Amino acid sequence: MKLSIQQGVNGRWRSRWTFIFAAAGSAVGLGNIWKFPYIVGENGGGAFVLVYLACIMAIGIPIMMAEVMLGRRARLSPINAMLHLSRESKVSHWWSGVGWSGVLAGILILSFYSVVAGWAFHYLMLAMSGDFYQIEAQSSGALFSGLLSNIPALISWHTLFLLITLGIVAGGVVKGLGTAARYMMPVLLLLLMVLVIYSAAVGDFASALSFLFNFNTQALQWNSVSVALGHAFFTLSLGMGAIMAYGAYLPDTKISIGRTVLVIGILDTFVAIMAGLVIFPIVFANASVEPSAGPGLLFVSLPIAFGGMTAGSFFAALFFFLVVIAALSSGISMIEPTVSWLVETKGISRLKITALLGVAVWLVGLGTVFSFNVWSDVTLFGSTFFDALDFLTANIMLPLGGLFIAIFVGWVMKPSFVAEEIGDIRRGLYRCWYFILRYVSPVLLGLVFCITLFNKLSS
Ligand code: PFF
Repeated sequence: MKLSIQQGVNGRWRSRWTFIFAAAGSAVGLGNIWKFPYIVGENGGGAFVLVYLACIMAIGIPIMMAEVMLGRRARLSPINAMLHLSRESKVSHWWSGVGWSGVLAGILILSFYSVVAGWAFHYLMLAMSGDFYQIEAQSSGALFSGLLSNIPALISWHTLFLLITLGIVAGGVVKGLGTAARYMMPVLLLLLMVLVIYSAAVGDFASALSFLFNFNTQALQWNSVSVALGHAFFTLSLGMGAIMAYGAYLPDTKISIGRTVLVIGILDTFVAIMAGLVIFPIVFANASVEPSAGPGLLFVSLPIAFGGMTAGSFFAALFFFLVVIAALSSGISMIEPTVSWLVETKGISRLKITALLGVAVWLVGLGTVFSFNVWSDVTLFGSTFFDALDFLTANIMLPLGGLFIAIFVGWVMKPSFVAEEIGDIRRGLYRCWYFILRYVSPVLLGLVFCITLFNKLSS
């Protein structure tokens, strides 16, 4: 009935909607609920949001279409898919490098993602024991700093999250993913809406709206453009093969990739904006919480909201539970392409591979744990280990992966193959998409990429 990635290339999602939910499960995660609000806060609000939305529309959606298309055409895990497609178009097998960089990016991203998901786990426990009741801004800040300096707790939660993620991947239970997300997503959306209404009622909604949507581009710094572009990739799970891997299991019936991807993009953006509308009214109503508070923004502001709410502990527990689930369905998609590739080609058991990868991810994750306490002064190009990892993956590896995917589809793959896979959209739209992939995405990505590197190296 349902799909198992273990079934290899013969597996198929049950329907277009199962794919949508699985891909949305990958896309919607900590990136939307935790990262988006804090980077908006750090980058001054509206103008950043505008650039972010433009990146999603002009670069993210077209590249997501390309990734899904490549996956569906090859029906293999990303490394093999790129190998197969480059052979098919009679070009160098080096294009499989896109898949390789995805493997590395997946490991690196999961290593810090797991630590942050661990914070959500901890907050789930705090919520369940009623610790947010009537909490003030200052105590909420102290609660979060307390967690960051509690190394055993950070490591335990990181370990637990990783064990669950890898357990699911090892069991090949990816089959349930689309179905699970089908139930989880509506609950998450509903809860976010309840929270937006609550925040609007008790917080400073007007300031939040003007902060998020004032679109005043004057304050925009170059660095913000690069962060917005990187986040468009991160939030849509692009540039590393995760979506390509899921595309490999699209049903055989004709499905419009364009329309399908648009639904995922809209859902993802909607969740991010809602998260912003929950958090910022609380932030602006509490002088001691700064919009630019950084990675702790969600964890400092939300307990204040829940603390004053009727049945706040229940809602807080439900919310952090959903954050953990959303993080799980994203975490799985970071590592699944690597695992399925190794199973596909080397025939090693899923359990062995997952265990090995798990150890690697866990060890790298310790770097992130320490970067919030004992290593907080250790910096590389002015960034802590966590910041450097975040920068390397979101701002370099994913956009670079996206750049190569755009070049591959726009310039390398035979145009007739491309048209065969995706030509079912209106002619004008198809031309527009192909033009973006050929010219707009590579030029913009190349440009932002060069300036980002230049800025970083000269800083
Ligand atoms: N899109 C996920 C989020 O926004 O939380 C993060 C992510 C998942 C990035 C899968 C990359 C990936 F391959």
